[in-house]
Amino acid sequence: MICASVERLAEKGLWTTPVIEFLRKDSTVRWLEDLRAESGRSEDETILVLLAAIRSLDLTLLDGGSEPEALEEFLTCHSQTLRPVCLTRRVQANVAERGLPLLEFLGTHWGRQRLAVTELGCSFGLIGRVLVSAPDTLKNFGRYFAPGQQRPTALPFVAEYLGIDLDPPDERWLLACIPLADLRTRVARFMFEVPASPHVRVTQGSALDTALWPQPAPGTHSVVLTSFMLYQLDPETRQGLVHKIVDHTTSCNGTWLNLDVLTDDGRNRFVLQVDGKDELLFDSDLCRSWGHHGR
Ligand SMILES: C[S@@+](CC[C@H](N)C(=O)[O-])C[C@H]1O[C@@H](n2cnc3c(N)ncnc32)[C@H](O)[C@@H]1O
Repeated sequence: MICASVERLAEKGLWTTPVIEFLRKDSTVRWLEDLRAESGRSEDETILVLLAAIRSLDLTLLDGGSEPEALEEFLTCHSQTLRPVCLTRRVQANVAERGLPLLEFLGTHWGRQRLAVTELGCSFGLIGRVLVSAPDTLKNFGRYFAPGQQRPTALPFVAEYLGIDLDPPDERWLLACIPLADLRTRVARFMFEVPASPHVRVTQGSALDTALWPQPAPGTHSVVLTSFMLYQLDPETRQGLVHKIVDHTTSCNGTWLNLDVLTDDGRNRFVLQVDGKDELLFDSDLCRSWGHHGR
């Protein structure tokens, strides 16, 4: 039921009161129920994609200052534009913070050796920008990251980054998918102030298509990264992808890094795994702080 999902998602504290009241309105619920029936998506995804689609037309409309009735009118007026967006796009996250513990891990273990990182399921590729442009990222740390964000204590030399995603979002859609205004502002600053260098590339394709995975140049250590993407695959596909990654990293003496959420006894654990073994533990999927596993 859409109504139950609205109430559950509202508890996460990501929406203003007018947005919650707008989502509770009969006309909005009917619109969402129709969309869900046509798209076959879950209730949660249906609600989140509508809010992202609205932000893609007006980035700040849902941040406050608009009455629920004004939001209802906006939906009515723009229904014909919003509907195809909601049917074709998916809500996609990409979090630059996740690059910070990777910098520390790679810098600590690989020093100044040339590294080539291939990220499978990279979304916009923000992690790649952090890895390749680490000095620029750290120079204006407070502009791009929230107060209290842990800083990496070592930096690697990531010479090349290739991200592969089924559907890489453009800048506007990535920002539209971010519900919190302050996080959106920081991501926009990072995106526009630390542009992708020529050594950061993002390509559209399936992570399972190994023909897209680059072979490391001589003298370069190959790193395959999966970050909060394996959970999106069904168990059989996930197992198949893990086999391909292990075959690849074994054949080129490379390393597999996996940022993930694992559930034990109903509790979530956020980890960095290195070649399948836990290395770092995080406070959350936002990687605001981290510590060594088992210490
Ligand atoms: C939750 S996002 C994580 C993005 C990024 N790795 C991060 O941690 O910020 C997962 C991404 O994986 C992509 N994805 C899911 N399955 C994929 C597949 N089979 N091949 C390529 N990309 C895939 C989705 O399109 C989405 O952008």
